[in-house]
Amino acid sequence: MTRQGLFLTFEGIDGSGKSTQARMLADFLRNEGREVVLTREPGGSDGAEEIRNLVLQGDPDRWSAETEILLFTAARRDHLERTIEPALSAGKVVICDRFADSTRMYQGLSRGDLRGLVDQLHDLMIGREPDLTLLIDMDPDMGLNRAKSRQGAEERFEDFGPELQRRMRTGFLELAKEFSDRFKVIDGNRDVDSVAADVKDIVSRVL
Ligand code: ADP
Ligand code: TYD
Repeated sequence: MTRQGLFLTFEGIDGSGKSTQARMLADFLRNEGREVVLTREPGGSDGAEEIRNLVLQGDPDRWSAETEILLFTAARRDHLERTIEPALSAGKVVICDRFADSTRMYQGLSRGDLRGLVDQLHDLMIGREPDLTLLIDMDPDMGLNRAKSRQGAEERFEDFGPELQRRMRTGFLELAKEFSDRFKVIDGNRDVDSVAADVKDIVSRVL
């Protein structure tokens, strides 16, 4: 019999506090004696990190919308095969900063309506959803300010500006209704510790 771990994802617009909360949750669960794999997308395996550089750096129009869906899905497939599935089979808790819901939003909505294509490719090549998705919901302008205050070369989507952030926020809230069995929405417009307390509550109940 294989042991099955728990697959948790954080979603939300850029700068909503996903990485911060994912890190804090990993620390909390490790302190409780659980084995945790903290990972992120795009990336999380050697091959997927290479693809990350291809999709997040350079000219924003480097890839067509369709090619971009293929690249994000290719990165996810590698990440799933090499990092996520082995950890879950070993009974670990996997905490992933973004997953397929981000592709449904960013590639599915930002350059025309490509959601159908994203879902088709997901069914074909990924075929699994997280056990629990924590959506950190927040004011898009605040999120953008937070994201912009970070330094770095990975500005790909943040550069599209406030309009896209607003559409992504609305889109994520709709996605939470569509997948209401696995989504929990958390108010991210609060201090780090208040958000973390909600995250702990929700995850502790599921565990
Ligand atoms: P994301 O991964 O969603 O883009 P981050 O966790 O990297 O977001 O947070 C973006 C920036 O905002 C970081 O500089 C982080 O320290 C800060 N930050 C995160 N959560 C909060 C919060 N609740 N209140 C204020 N600043 C925050
Ligand atoms: P991330 O490192 O989580 O950025 P941030 O911390 O600013 O939220 O993700 C990098 C960017 O990649 C982000 O703008 C969203 C985008 N992205 C997609 O467009 N599609 C995807 O499938 C994923 C996972 C991320």
